[in-house]
Amino acid sequence: MKKLLITRVIAPSVIADAKARFDVTVRQTGAGMTLDEAAEALASYDAILPTLGDDFSADAFARAGAPRCKVLANFGVGYNHIDAAAAKAAGVAVSNTPDVLTDATADIGMTLLLTAARRTGEGERMVRAGKWKGWGPGGIMGTHVSGKTVGIVGMGRIGQAVARRCHHGFGMPVLFYNRSPKTVDVPARQVADLAEMLGAVDFVVVTVPGGAQTRNLIDAAAFRAMKPSAIFVNIARGEVVDEAALIEALRSGQIAAAGLDVFVNEPDVPLALREMENTVVVPHLGSATAETREAMGRMALDNVIAWAEGRPLPQAV
Ligand code: DGY
Repeated sequence: MKKLLITRVIAPSVIADAKARFDVTVRQTGAGMTLDEAAEALASYDAILPTLGDDFSADAFARAGAPRCKVLANFGVGYNHIDAAAAKAAGVAVSNTPDVLTDATADIGMTLLLTAARRTGEGERMVRAGKWKGWGPGGIMGTHVSGKTVGIVGMGRIGQAVARRCHHGFGMPVLFYNRSPKTVDVPARQVADLAEMLGAVDFVVVTVPGGAQTRNLIDAAAFRAMKPSAIFVNIARGEVVDEAALIEALRSGQIAAAGLDVFVNEPDVPLALREMENTVVVPHLGSATAETREAMGRMALDNVIAWAEGRPLPQAV
């Protein structure tokens, strides 16, 4: 029986199916795998089902030498924690879990956008603290969402799902920035210049993949380009944003608010972001519905099974 390492506890039904076909080890900790652990796993298992936070960097492959492992079936669409080029050079196939988490992640984008715009986080904190003095025409005043313009950075599957929600649900004009030209099934205008797009919209939603090509794509200059009333939402990866520049933009009033699902050094979230009232901070919940997480596990396992049966990986990256 082939040895399979599943690096986190995932849906029991998926683990049960995995156990029916493979000699399965499930890592019981919630912490990501260190470089040493990743290298050791590459040398010890035939297949690995890793996820975000596991350090499958070029160094891990270098340490593992000629790895026993032949497939990394990532649990998650983003695989910036795996050096795909180093994996390929070492003869390790890599797959991910696109599509199944698109809606859940777009929903978190809308949750953050609405929460930041309507200040419901602040309102909830006020009620929970027993500080609400009753309804009045003043008080916590949000900003309108319907009909305002959204700008989406990265028009992949998740960007398009956000665009559909904004257009069909909230009647919002949609602008987007994408590296390559893109035709989408919702009225949306592609803007070639990022700063130009950022300056033209009321809400910015970032959905680009992480990795070297997008590191600090949203930097101090990008925040300077935004309207002072802009609300900034990140459901991509923390490293896409210069976090210090974001904090400064929020502090100085360069932008109005931010809704953040992802951070540079997860699970550490800078104190400044946790303390400001005009931030909404949630713990990387993009794909966190029971249905989605089960579908992600099943898709990752299907890729391991395809490899074991000598078939091409359905979601090879
Ligand atoms: C994803 O699938 O990329 C999620 O962000 C979890 O890694």
